[in-house]
Amino acid sequence: MNAHPGGAAHTRRMLELSGLSAGASVLDLGAGAGESVALLREMGYAAEGIDLAPRSPIVQKGDLLRSGYPDASFDAVLSQCAFFLSGDVPGALREARRVLKPGGLLLLSDVFFEPPVPLLKAAGFHVRQAEDMTGEWKEYYLEALWRGDAACCGVPRGKCGYWLLIAGKE
Ligand SMILES: C[S@@+](CC[C@H](N)C(=O)[O-])C[C@H]1O[C@@H](n2cnc3c(N)ncnc32)[C@H](O)[C@@H]1O
Repeated sequence: MNAHPGGAAHTRRMLELSGLSAGASVLDLGAGAGESVALLREMGYAAEGIDLAPRSPIVQKGDLLRSGYPDASFDAVLSQCAFFLSGDVPGALREARRVLKPGGLLLLSDVFFEPPVPLLKAAGFHVRQAEDMTGEWKEYYLEALWRGDAACCGVPRGKCGYWLLIAGKE
């Protein structure tokens, strides 16, 4: 099951907003059970995914903060609801930028405890699109609490928001 608000429709929307060409190489950082990797492959992308605790054979074991891929390996990096959980958002942005080719795209949706656009700018990205999904995320989080699997959300107390961001490597 997808572990981010909006499920597959949200992933499709991110791809649509990005304008990423079919056949592009995409790395999913924090790919979990691999639904987005599978969807990307179905849509014609050359997708790979890593996760600290992979829940599918199509996801490799790996740390998104130290992915081990060479510099400039991918046309795009996708990450949904994982950078925040890594405990080091600036470190995750650094690693995403490192593995992206020049002009590569970051497709990110995640929890933020500070305004995300300046954060991405400071990390060397030009933000093309930013959508506040906090309302959808609240509903998703409540449903997860109700199902009893909110541990996957692991969010501490504090004012936060959930954002969809499409950004280019500067
Ligand atoms: C809420 S789940 C989202 C999974 C998937 N992106 C999705 O949307 O279905 C967060 C995932 O991030 C992974 N994760 C957290 N820290 C990580 C790290 N440092 N490196 C790789 N994966 C990490 C967790 O293991 C978990 O599978």
